[in-house]
Amino acid sequence: MIIAPSLLAANYAQFGKDVLRANKSGAEWLHLDIMDGHFVPNISFGPQVVKTLRPLSKLFFDVHLMCSKPEILLEPFAKAGADEIIIHVELGDAVAPLIWKIRSLGKKVGLAVNPPTNIALAEPFLEQIDLLLVMTVNPGFGGQEFIHECLPKIQQADAWRRERNLSYRLEVDGGINNQTVGECARVGADTFVAGTALFGRPNMKAAVAKMRKIAEANDPALADLKV
Ligand code: DX5
Ligand code: ZN
Repeated sequence: MIIAPSLLAANYAQFGKDVLRANKSGAEWLHLDIMDGHFVPNISFGPQVVKTLRPLSKLFFDVHLMCSKPEILLEPFAKAGADEIIIHVELGDAVAPLIWKIRSLGKKVGLAVNPPTNIALAEPFLEQIDLLLVMTVNPGFGGQEFIHECLPKIQQADAWRRERNLSYRLEVDGGINNQTVGECARVGADTFVAGTALFGRPNMKAAVAKMRKIAEANDPALADLKV
């Protein structure tokens, strides 16, 4: 299981200090939500912030581009220190060339699917990606309510992975907390983005450990072993 605190929920007045908190929290990844004010009705931070934070952390930088024209941002974020770049399947015909471009930059490839979008749109790309992100809120803001109707999409993505012997990670993002993490793990999610539930806690290390414990306790693979 991977726990990925989302910097979106960090203290914007002290990003550096909060990344040091994340370093010591037991999380493996740092999730960086990039918003362009067009694909989503919000603007967050850009490549310069990622570049500044990169030398402060050995965490895997999971860069989530909620952007309408990611093609102009791939190189800047790759150079800034992204380890993985996630684009949205809602970009339609642009997805295939974008996947190729991210690969050519030597970065891991993630594909995100918004709550209203049919998970079938992601099916043609399953062999080409390292991670499938099932959004569990409508992107744009942290602190939103988890959308339970997204659970069958996670289940479907996990079924495809098993049936086709694929190894992409299954990530969820939005409203992930100690109640919803177990529901997502039970249907196959293995990578959990959380902002409010982690950066928002005074003891981030304890929050990460608790979330991980609940995720692992609901891992279907472990449940099979228990029988
Ligand atoms: C939505 C963002 C949020 C963020 C996590 O665009 O992607 O989902 O990462 O937000 P929380 O964990 O606070 O719901
Ligand atoms: Zn995100």
